[in-house]
Amino acid sequence: MQFEIRKYHPTDLTALYKICLLTGNSGKDATELFSDSDLLGHFYAAPYAVFEPEICFVVTNNNKPCGYIIGTKDSQKFFEKCEVEWFPILRTRYPVRDVNDKSWDARIIKRIHEGHKVKPELVNFPAHLHIDLLPETQGQGIGRQLMDVFINELKNENVPALHLEVGKANPGAIKFYEKLGFEMIKEYEFSIAFGMSLK
Ligand SMILES: CC(C)(COP(=O)(O)OP(=O)(O)OC[C@H]1O[C@@H](n2cnc3c(N)ncnc32)[C@H](O)[C@@H]1OP(=O)(O)O)[C@@H](O)C(=O)NCCC(=O)NCCS
Repeated sequence: MQFEIRKYHPTDLTALYKICLLTGNSGKDATELFSDSDLLGHFYAAPYAVFEPEICFVVTNNNKPCGYIIGTKDSQKFFEKCEVEWFPILRTRYPVRDVNDKSWDARIIKRIHEGHKVKPELVNFPAHLHIDLLPETQGQGIGRQLMDVFINELKNENVPALHLEVGKANPGAIKFYEKLGFEMIKEYEFSIAFGMSLK
């Protein structure tokens, strides 16, 4: 295996969708959970790469993408851009499902229709990120390297702080963020927000 970290390139977009799905069930493969295999990527991966490719990085194994770190420098601006340039066409394509539809597709479609909102406790942590590595890439220090590269990029842009949200059903990722020095900002019913100052 030969891993390399490099900047995101537009030809990586389909790989981002795949990796997002293959790690989308609290870090495990979510393929069987979805009828529409693009839904997770529409919400959690693609808009970052499309709107802020300059801070997105992929890790490749023998030149094939096998992980990424993606995010935004400014969550408020990013969410506003999603409202105008990302969600409208998806809301038309994926109409709201019946409230009794408890499928995973319906859950993400609901999120697409609700849109994003910056939570008050996260206002002072303007950047946020998503990091996902395929199994063969995990546990070898690559997550830490990707995070270093991403954080350096944010520091170069004078971003004061960043946050992320992780599901409570993903204890490995929680340990990873704690190891890297993130501090808990708030615990929600199913997830935890972690933050880091970059000053
Ligand atoms: C979570 C993830 C990004 C971590 O990346 P990684 O490359 O596996 O982690 P690293 O090897 O860089 O580990 C960095 C540190 O975190 C610790 N760590 C990483 N994963 C851990 C786990 N599952 N349990 C306990 N500690 C863990 C390591 O021990 C290491 O500590 P050390 O440097 O003191 O030895 C990666 O495993 C992953 O993508 N998982 C699947 C998708 C996912 O869950 N994404 C997060 C969604 S919020």
